[in-house]
Amino acid sequence: MKLIVEPATRPLSGTIVIPGDKSIGHRALLFALLSATPIRVRGLGDGADNGRSARAITALGGAITRDGDALVIRGTGLDGMRAPAAAIDCGNSGTSIRLLCGLLAGQRFQTTLFGDESLSKRPMRRVIEPLAAMGASITGPGAHLGLGDVTPPLTIGPAPGPLRAIDYALPMASAQVKTAILLAALYADGETAVTEPGPSRDHSERMLAYLGAPITVHGRRAAIATRGWDRRLAGDGFEVPGDPSSSAFLVAAALLVGAGEVRLPNLCVNPTRTGFLDAIAAMGGEVTRDDPRDAGPEPVADLVVRGRAPALRATEIGGELAVRSIDELPVLGVLAARAHGTTTIRNAEELKVKESDRIASTCAMLRAFGVVCEPRPDGFVVEGNPDRPFTAARVHADGDHRIAMAAAVAALIADGPTEIDDADNVATSYPGFAAALSRLGATITSAA
Ligand code: S3P
Repeated sequence: MKLIVEPATRPLSGTIVIPGDKSIGHRALLFALLSATPIRVRGLGDGADNGRSARAITALGGAITRDGDALVIRGTGLDGMRAPAAAIDCGNSGTSIRLLCGLLAGQRFQTTLFGDESLSKRPMRRVIEPLAAMGASITGPGAHLGLGDVTPPLTIGPAPGPLRAIDYALPMASAQVKTAILLAALYADGETAVTEPGPSRDHSERMLAYLGAPITVHGRRAAIATRGWDRRLAGDGFEVPGDPSSSAFLVAAALLVGAGEVRLPNLCVNPTRTGFLDAIAAMGGEVTRDDPRDAGPEPVADLVVRGRAPALRATEIGGELAVRSIDELPVLGVLAARAHGTTTIRNAEELKVKESDRIASTCAMLRAFGVVCEPRPDGFVVEGNPDRPFTAARVHADGDHRIAMAAAVAALIADGPTEIDDADNVATSYPGFAAALSRLGATITSAA
């Protein structure tokens, strides 16, 4: 599928309800499987990735029914999961496969997990190493990357008995790996701890605590201690707030084109997710947070962009800020191309192992618009120019949803229509993206 985007001719305006946060959605589904009580999940996004986790939990013995605007998930409890009848297809979803590794590591049956072409190239040693240290058996081929890493399909278990507790220092800030270890820790004897080098998203810690897991968090160290615990997780439900990572594309579009008023209600503003708002503020862009409040374990607010496109200035994104904006760096690259000065993104080597190599694919996308962008081993450098129009482009999205959506945002300020090829995977996180941009006043169509 391709997207065809016309340059915007007027300020964007409107209210868009962004679908539920993808990360929280995966966790609501997978954690509900472990619950002894039915869990009502409201606001789950309609992206294909969350659909993969939903199908996985039914394959493992969970049941999902609809009740009004909520899904009701009847889980199996910690010890009632059953062996799936067939291998589980995780599609494009790195979060599904890595979290399932942790969930399945301690089960007494064997499961095989596989995915699409992109997922089949993604590194899994990062989850396998700590889970193997806990006594789990996880195997897979390693040929694809040429890096000696292990890639899907993965065969997990059966576990011979309870897992071993470990104290693990994560080599990279990764919420997926951290969560996999915390899930396996529920099946370990003793206290399992994981310490991370940077502030990756902490939804798992918040949601496991809400369900009554024996979890403690001190700074960058999260621990689960199972001795003396009744092995019962329980709760009423989860409200899944809007996905800030999806909102970033509409926020960037409103800042580049200018906005009457673009309002995005009820978004997750957990500080581990809002690095892109801090980067935008440093660039001189104004995004207001209206009505900040708590929705269960997560803070939420309405994001609002108003007024003429601001004059943006270059910035530096590195360290903790790079961790807290990791999924938004492609679209921040688009904003940087419109800013005065040179923007440097560093400490973001994790970009190389996302749905595409996002250092290469972000640079290729920006260059297609005539922007000067240089890859670096740990990020990229964008030469901004507020006066030079983007040249109308033909962009290949490399099968990566965030590259396709970032390109659609750039296309709004190009000097002619832009075609974005290989954009089907927008549906993994935000199937309604093109419709939302159209509702704000842009002209965007899809074609086979
Ligand atoms: C996610 C964690 C991040 C992020 C991904 C979703 C999660 O990946 O990039 O889109 O839901 O835990 P890493 O764990 O690889 O950093």
